[in-house]
Amino acid sequence: MSTANETTEPRRKRALSLIQPSGIPTLGNYLGAMRNWVALQDEFECIFGVADLHAVTVRQEPARLRQRTYEVYALLLAVGLDPEKCLVFVQSQVPAHAELAWLLGCCTQFGELSRMTQFKDKSQSHADNINLGLFAYPTLMAADILLYRPDLVPVGKDQKQHCELTRDIAGRFNNLYSDTFVLPEPYIMQNCANVLSLQEPAKKMSKSDSNQNAFISMLDEPDAILRKFRRAVTDSEARVCRREDKPGVSNLMEIYGAVTGRTFDQIEEEFDGRGYGDFKSAVGEAVAETLRPIQDRFHTYMGDKAQLDALMKEQAGKAAVIACRTLDKVKKKMGFVLTK
Ligand code: TYM
Repeated sequence: MSTANETTEPRRKRALSLIQPSGIPTLGNYLGAMRNWVALQDEFECIFGVADLHAVTVRQEPARLRQRTYEVYALLLAVGLDPEKCLVFVQSQVPAHAELAWLLGCCTQFGELSRMTQFKDKSQSHADNINLGLFAYPTLMAADILLYRPDLVPVGKDQKQHCELTRDIAGRFNNLYSDTFVLPEPYIMQNCANVLSLQEPAKKMSKSDSNQNAFISMLDEPDAILRKFRRAVTDSEARVCRREDKPGVSNLMEIYGAVTGRTFDQIEEEFDGRGYGDFKSAVGEAVAETLRPIQDRFHTYMGDKAQLDALMKEQAGKAAVIACRTLDKVKKKMGFVLTK
């Protein structure tokens, strides 16, 4: 992606989004985010990243984090993000993120951060490690976004609150120090699925769930995928239809619709009079078929780590050019002495 037109030409609208390497991305990450990012890269100037600094807000085993970072990076390429068309970088390789996060932290109120639902949820699930990073997570996310001045931030519904806080922080900074940041819109994509846990369909499907049966990892083998769908929680009505009191079945329908392109009416018709067994097998098979070519490409990318390293380095360099320009502007406005 060219950065040459940063100051010279009017630019295409810019979209930015990141994903944490806190586990192998799930089917939820794919259908709710990654698949849609691929569609965006032709329309917008796109910047995507692996949010490894965010991942350490919960305890990570170092070798595993390193491996996951490669894996998530390779998966971003495997789903079809093309570094010729967009930037795909690793967050910790662009130091401006951590630096701007500190500066924005000084413009963010304790009360605002205390209200974040993700902080409340994670403080419960990681009660032994409620660290400063976990609390300040949204200021790092605001930095990720604001450094690149995107117009749109394509995320799943669960990230909407963080995007709104980013706008509040940006607006406050602009008021205090004059116009600096673009206020980005969270961009919840139209046909983007909100995928729920297969075991507790009141919760989102999450890569960090301790119950392996609750999520489909993008690298699960077909057998595991079929098994997990067969075990998915449904209800006792044995009727495939979408209703609020049938969250398990509705979730499976959403997944099936997202991977086959079928409408809910078509799915209902297809499984009319058939039991959940048939339906669950069909969902499992369709998902396995969708993930298979991605997994094949993933293994090819992972087979050449030197090439991944070289690409990461090149992409981080390009990202840093954009990020440092914003960071310098911010520091100047706040009164820091910049030497040439
Ligand atoms: P993360 O890593 O949890 O998820 C990455 C993206 O996947 C979406 N998503 C889902 N969509 C549908 N159904 C699901 N079950 C599901 N689970 C996750 C998320 O909404 C997200 O879009 N804080 C962010 C990462 C981040 C970021 C940023 C995003 C860091 N800096 C700057 C945008 C801009 C996160 O934890 O995403």
